[in-house]
Amino acid sequence: MHTEWLSARANVIWYEGNEAAAIAQGNEVEGILWYGHGVVNEALLRHFPNIKVVSNFGAGYEHFDAAFILSRHLPMGHTPGCLSETVADFAWGLMISAARDIPGGIQRCAASDFTHINPNQLGKQVSGSTLGIVGMGSIGSCVAKRARGFNMPVLYHNRHQKSNQEEKDCNNATFCPTLIELLAQSDYVMLCCPVTPETENLMGTAQFKAMKNDAVLINLGRGKLVDQEALVTALSTNEIGLAALDVTEPEPLPRDHPLVVPREDIRGKIIISPHQGSATLETRFQMLTMSFDNLMAGLENKRLPWLCKECRGMEGQTEDREMGTQYYTK
Ligand code: 8YV
Repeated sequence: MHTEWLSARANVIWYEGNEAAAIAQGNEVEGILWYGHGVVNEALLRHFPNIKVVSNFGAGYEHFDAAFILSRHLPMGHTPGCLSETVADFAWGLMISAARDIPGGIQRCAASDFTHINPNQLGKQVSGSTLGIVGMGSIGSCVAKRARGFNMPVLYHNRHQKSNQEEKDCNNATFCPTLIELLAQSDYVMLCCPVTPETENLMGTAQFKAMKNDAVLINLGRGKLVDQEALVTALSTNEIGLAALDVTEPEPLPRDHPLVVPREDIRGKIIISPHQGSATLETRFQMLTMSFDNLMAGLENKRLPWLCKECRGMEGQTEDREMGTQYYTK
């Protein structure tokens, strides 16, 4: 993707699919621009002893071994903000797809034995229902703003309560100090938070039990937010109604995983998309240019414009600047 754009601006050694050759030239590499979710750790970075910067093509960078990268005094960059609207668009698409079984309807229409419309195949109401957002950061806020047009009251759970103005802007969102409070009241539960040691397996058996029996879980964050075994059980025992996942752990799931080849008891209750949230040409181009700017700043020993928070205060990286506000056009 946009390989010509990059190749026109830098001497690029492609890594994926070309690992041995890239490693053989490891001493020449000055900076890493990383696309995708492969792990960037000591084992990888020891092949590149002369790098000055690690730049992630994406907002979430939990696949970086931050402690090791910092121990090498390397600044890390990422691309926050620019993808939030696009991910929020997709979140709504996925939510409605699950609720109204759009994939099932499309499949029925494409089937060779489709002869009549069954008026009794009914979905779940979206507009007017209660939307619970877990993680009211940049993406969560963009999701919440869209709720206005659907007349959906918004509940949110977040580490910190937002300001009055922010809550107002997010369709008058109501703060739930505990996750359980949000789960008990929401018809749709949207996970929009990053994965951290605190949020890993945030959704497990107890949380599914707290949800309404016909509620829909939508995961836009990371697969590790959800205990997937507990999710299979929750769907099969009708603790919850449906699940729509844009992210899983691992990606992709093994082809025989019960969420991929659903058993009889959860068939029709799960849809999975392949981590498509930010996947538009325009947004990926913004991500590319932001990650490229981070890379170039690192090579020139300047402050990275979108520096990962762990690096704030690092030598040469102290100037404060708001992140994720400057976007690019083609
Ligand atoms: C991308 C993402 O799929 O930005 C993120 O955190 O997960 C996605 O936007 C990914 O970063 C592409 O490498």
